[in-house]
Amino acid sequence: MSDFVHTTEELAACIASHTPFVILDTDERDRAQDALTAAARELNTEIDFYTDCDQFVELRRGQRVTDVSGDPLSYIEETMKKKSGNVFALGDVRFLDGDNSFSRKTVNLVRLASLKKSTLIIVTADPVWAGLNKMGMYLKLDLPTRQEREKMLKEFLERNRIKSLGDKVGQAAAMLSGYSRLQLNTVLNYVYRSKIGFTYDNLCAVATQKNKLFGKIPSVGRIEVGDVYVAGLNGIKDWLVQKEKIFFAPKEELDKKHLASPKGVLLVGVPGCGKSLSAKMIARQWQMPLYRFDIGALFDKYVGESEKNMRIALDYIDSVSPCVLWVDEIEKALYSGGDNDTAKRMLGNFLYWLQEYSGRVFLVATANDVSQLPPELFRKGRLAEVFFVDLPGGDERKAAIELYARLSLTMKLDDEQVRKLVELSEGFSYADIESAIKQVAEMEFITKNKESFETLQNAFRGTVGIMQAQPELINRTRQWGVNAVSASGKRR
Ligand SMILES: Nc1ncnc2c1ncn2[C@@H]1O[C@H](COP(=O)(O)OP(=O)(O)O)[C@@H](O)[C@H]1O
Ligand SMILES: [Mg+2]
Repeated sequence: MSDFVHTTEELAACIASHTPFVILDTDERDRAQDALTAAARELNTEIDFYTDCDQFVELRRGQRVTDVSGDPLSYIEETMKKKSGNVFALGDVRFLDGDNSFSRKTVNLVRLASLKKSTLIIVTADPVWAGLNKMGMYLKLDLPTRQEREKMLKEFLERNRIKSLGDKVGQAAAMLSGYSRLQLNTVLNYVYRSKIGFTYDNLCAVATQKNKLFGKIPSVGRIEVGDVYVAGLNGIKDWLVQKEKIFFAPKEELDKKHLASPKGVLLVGVPGCGKSLSAKMIARQWQMPLYRFDIGALFDKYVGESEKNMRIALDYIDSVSPCVLWVDEIEKALYSGGDNDTAKRMLGNFLYWLQEYSGRVFLVATANDVSQLPPELFRKGRLAEVFFVDLPGGDERKAAIELYARLSLTMKLDDEQVRKLVELSEGFSYADIESAIKQVAEMEFITKNKESFETLQNAFRGTVGIMQAQPELINRTRQWGVNAVSASGKRR
């Protein structure tokens, strides 16, 4: 248990026993500051708390102390040298996740603190370099408990004279779990200020859209990947097997041979043929988390803001690497900004960043409409490969039919039946095949009866394949694809 009260007690115990170094693990700096303040008052001891914004502040008396021009470590060192028994807390820490001059300097400070019966506390949810980590006491501040949430909620209702929750206050507090204090305030204020009415149902409705309200950052979201079944696309599959070793090889070894880690792929082609699915397949196969990057969400009407959002997004991506980064329908990002030049420049900056980036991020970008892609952005060399994803050929349709029949149907298909369906599905995308088969699978599911092959054939006959639905798009895409590498591994 690491609720507010408990963590405050632990902090006080650490300070009272002159523990030289404490790591307080939390995203909620404000609440951490409150816990530290409570500990300082309880012990009747001063804690100097640093944030980039306010510099050093005395928590117990609440007075501003010193502007240290953003260099808290030197200030701490000087002060500690002068007298013993100090307590410092850093609310903004940087670069402590690896072996570098900051973390080394912090190690020295911890040694000094130990000599001077002082305590250094850092507040961070980020990983801390092992060399530093092992010197510290590790405390965690969990998200607000139900009681804390109820108290907050009651205060909020009182402050705003809201009565509409009636006897559902406790229930609302229970439902609002998993939120930080800041997020809770945001949700409450949102429901209050919007015109929807402060009712229990509306509160629930907003609270369940948590991922919308608080992705870590709005433009990058984690996608959970379950089992992924992919028929065909053997070209991509083989490529992945080959490149995996290189992608994960140590940089020094690649450098020796003048090789570079593959930066990503662009998948261009017909809708419903597995481009988006491939992003999941790659994450699954290389066992990396998948993050979807919505470049369109970065655009802002104010000058410079879009670029700033991009920097924040790239920092975030850096912090979650290694990962597969998926930009779906990248051509759309070029038009969502309104101003095409800004969009193009930003996309260029992003690809440049990727090229120079030394960590492991593998980009999977997809595009449906090639006529919208600026070719200069997708020269080979920037990305490791550009694949063209075409409609499935006969063998691929066979693979897809067998796959979805096995996954969803009760009836078993013999070779002759499969052959017939392959013929009927000429001009279908993989998604068309899936949908025809699932239509029958749903009937089987509902009636609990095995459907006949006739029904299945009819479902195929009744499906309008993508080739029939969007011939111009397919032809345009295919023309472009003549010079690209085939995703199905076939030579043309
Ligand atoms: N190669 C494939 N193998 C199996 N299923 C596929 C394949 N391609 C597409 N599908 C099915 O069609 C759906 C839509 O495909 P998707 O990857 O989103 O197409 P797009 O190429 O338009 O991004 C997938 O979720 C999957 O169920
Ligand atoms: Mg797609």
